[in-house]
Amino acid sequence: MLALSGSSYASPETIVPGVLWYDTSSNVLSSHGGGILKEGNTYYWFGEYMDSDPNNVLPVYEGHVTHQFVANTCYSSIDFVHWTFENNVLTQQASGDLGPGRVVERPKVIYNDLTGQYVMYMHIDSSMYDDNRVGVATCPTVNGNYTYLGGFWPLGNRSGDMTLFKDDDGKGYLLSNNGLSGINIYELTDDYLDVNSLATLVRKPGAEAPAMFKAGGTYYLLCSDSSWWTPNDNFYFTATSITGRWSTSKDFTPDSTNTWASQTTYVQPIQGSVSTTYVFMADRWNEWDFGNSMYIFLPLIVDGTTLTVDWYDEWTLDAETGEWAPVECTASTIHVESIVCSTVPIPRSQGMSYGEVTVTIYDDCGDRVVGAEVTGTFTGDFNETLTETTDDSGVVVLTTTTGFKQPSYTFCVDNVSHATLSYDPNDNTETCESY
Ligand code: GAL
Repeated sequence: MLALSGSSYASPETIVPGVLWYDTSSNVLSSHGGGILKEGNTYYWFGEYMDSDPNNVLPVYEGHVTHQFVANTCYSSIDFVHWTFENNVLTQQASGDLGPGRVVERPKVIYNDLTGQYVMYMHIDSSMYDDNRVGVATCPTVNGNYTYLGGFWPLGNRSGDMTLFKDDDGKGYLLSNNGLSGINIYELTDDYLDVNSLATLVRKPGAEAPAMFKAGGTYYLLCSDSSWWTPNDNFYFTATSITGRWSTSKDFTPDSTNTWASQTTYVQPIQGSVSTTYVFMADRWNEWDFGNSMYIFLPLIVDGTTLTVDWYDEWTLDAETGEWAPVECTASTIHVESIVCSTVPIPRSQGMSYGEVTVTIYDDCGDRVVGAEVTGTFTGDFNETLTETTDDSGVVVLTTTTGFKQPSYTFCVDNVSHATLSYDPNDNTETCESY
């Protein structure tokens, strides 16, 4: 259930990226760096448990920190919107790979048709991130207590951020950052408990957070760059076969949005009676308060072999039909977003200047407001009240009619009015500004 207390959205049936999410028991939903397994019409979401307990924060080095392994969680949902807590499917052990002070990240689960086992792979590490192994756990039921089998370096390679992919023919693949040149794609053994061979290397030094999905006849591999918990512009590769050849990489969000301030985690197709929506799942980490890390779920558009993820404050997903739609925000109030004060020298005036302020008006949907009448007063070296109407950028520039030598002044917005929207000064970022 993704729309929540604290959010300004009314409907609880929608997906709201970037706010805290709660499960169906109203507890904070904690499933980071995770993945989805679909069984029947139920989606199971596995991920890392993270909370705000300072005792769970481990120093790494140079100011970096991480969250110690407490548990891998499992939630379930039919509609991909309301999530029910199932179980902490793997929990901290007294010692060893899953012991206190250890790092366990990006758990993924696939079902093995031959053995009837659910197989979980995860990134296993020390608190210094110098262990770089992949760990395996199994369970005969999807949401039961998984048994940890151990960790290894696949074919002797270091293994950082990872994911699993199960192809239509039942073949399983492990994709993992090899610490050096890119993402290694390994074919798993028939029982999925080990790797068989290296299918290919998708070359891109530093590529992390791999997520693979298939649409039509094309395989897509999404990755991030490496910048710890800080987001960067993520990218994707395409290929018509897993062994390659893989394309060069392209971004799927607009430049410098840093993937809408998030890091790729997984892509889940929601195949319905009418169409398929590909849900881009990402984490907006909060390394100062891991329990306040947010999920960014957005519709991923596949057009030919081009991927795009646009931002929606709120959107709906119908898991039955496979359709999605944006929820349009209807503005009702306006407020002052910013005031910038300056002066304008008056030519041939022996150092006199006008006072000038730029005021920007936004509505409560976060859009700039055209045609708002802004009235404000200059005090100090000036004493003038002026009114102007915002332009296409939601901006007014108010310039005094009198000059002053090296003026110092305060400007306050007295009122903002608009034909249909009401002024809410409580929403103002600032009301007065001094120069
Ligand atoms: C990220 C990685 C996360 C976590 C983090 C630690 O790059 O994707 O899973 O390992 O670094 O700083």
